[in-house]
Amino acid sequence: MGEGAQDGATAAAVGSAAGTTGALYQRVLGPVLSQDGGADAEQLSRLTLAALGQAALRRRWPVVSGVLDGLGQELRRPDPRLEQSLFGCRFTNPVGLAAGFDKDAVAAAVWHHFGFGFAELGTITWHPQPGNPRPRLFRLAPERAALNRMGFNNQGAQAARRTLERQRLPPPGQRPAVLGINLGKSKITALDQAPDDYAASLELLAPLADYAVINVSSPNTPGLRDLQDELLLRRLVERLRRLPACPPLLVKIAPDLEDDAIDAIARMAYEEGLAGVIAVNTSLDRLGLEGRRLLQTGRTLAEEAGGLSGAPLRARALEVLRRLRATAGPALPLIGVGGIDSPQAAWERITAGASLVQLYTGWIYAGPALVPQILEGLSSQLDRHRLAHIGQAVGSGLPWR
Ligand code: FNR
Repeated sequence: MGEGAQDGATAAAVGSAAGTTGALYQRVLGPVLSQDGGADAEQLSRLTLAALGQAALRRRWPVVSGVLDGLGQELRRPDPRLEQSLFGCRFTNPVGLAAGFDKDAVAAAVWHHFGFGFAELGTITWHPQPGNPRPRLFRLAPERAALNRMGFNNQGAQAARRTLERQRLPPPGQRPAVLGINLGKSKITALDQAPDDYAASLELLAPLADYAVINVSSPNTPGLRDLQDELLLRRLVERLRRLPACPPLLVKIAPDLEDDAIDAIARMAYEEGLAGVIAVNTSLDRLGLEGRRLLQTGRTLAEEAGGLSGAPLRARALEVLRRLRATAGPALPLIGVGGIDSPQAAWERITAGASLVQLYTGWIYAGPALVPQILEGLSSQLDRHRLAHIGQAVGSGLPWR
């Protein structure tokens, strides 16, 4: 395809999302997203990201910028009461895109047009890697859930750096949305070499990151979760801290940890002065869906490998967040993620102690309209509870009214 034709296709792909984006998303993708079968989940994500990646590179072209501005007008909900400064970053609102959707950071420059206050790019590993064999991402549509065993498929830290540089982003601290970079261990790297593996990625990507996440909680890299052990994690954190110009560091944890392990991480994070903890990643627990069969394989969730996300994870994600807050206290910023698919769920997570929340599975099912719905919901709760600022809601226990 010639350049011009490709630009036209990009503009059309992105353009179709403007205007009544939410309604269009539901009309086009609703029928697909309401069933397990039909269009392949990974393929749909790839197509979307390919279009957004082109838009990110060509966002100053009048036709593309017009479309992106239209999208922003429809989906952004600026409200100074939702702005927060946390670990040196200024968030225009507390709703972010969770890690795993933009694994190669191709659309870093456009996420604010979707209304997000921040986006977490990655997981990125030092070595490029293909991830697990397909199929590896499954919709559980009636349950508003997903099972994935992607296995950190990504092009590696060096490619991510080039991809980010090509987008000519404003420097950290001056961006319309905060950009976090989520780092994982390469599959071929032995566990005892993990600190150097993470450090190599971080050293390369630090200049482009507003914050960085040590992901030790994905269930699809053998041994990775062992790094949640307090001593190993402390060693890893201390290794990364020694890097020059280390950005604010957060740790992302699994929902399957025992209480004492959660407490140990909360204490470690506090003592080491980490910027925060992100709770939670996908679950190895089948959360009541053990007997549910996957259409594509005919096997039950109990028999299938992978991490569960979406609505069934909500209760456990909330529980882990509450525990972190109880142990670490209000000084350690927490990011709540897992099963958030409504303004009520976002409010519940914030009032339980999350300063910020992230969306993935719920956003896929509900579509882009979910972000403005949540932002409007949060603003209206501030009105109803007569709060001047979202920071007053964090950990307040206030109910949804
Ligand atoms: C994820 N998630 C994830 N997390 C992470 O830290 N690195 C990653 O690469 C990925 N990849 C990924 C792929 C897919 C297909 C899904 C569904 C999820 C986990 C994600 O960021 C989030 O923590 C969980 O999905 C829980 O949130 P939701 O989906 O219930 O809102």
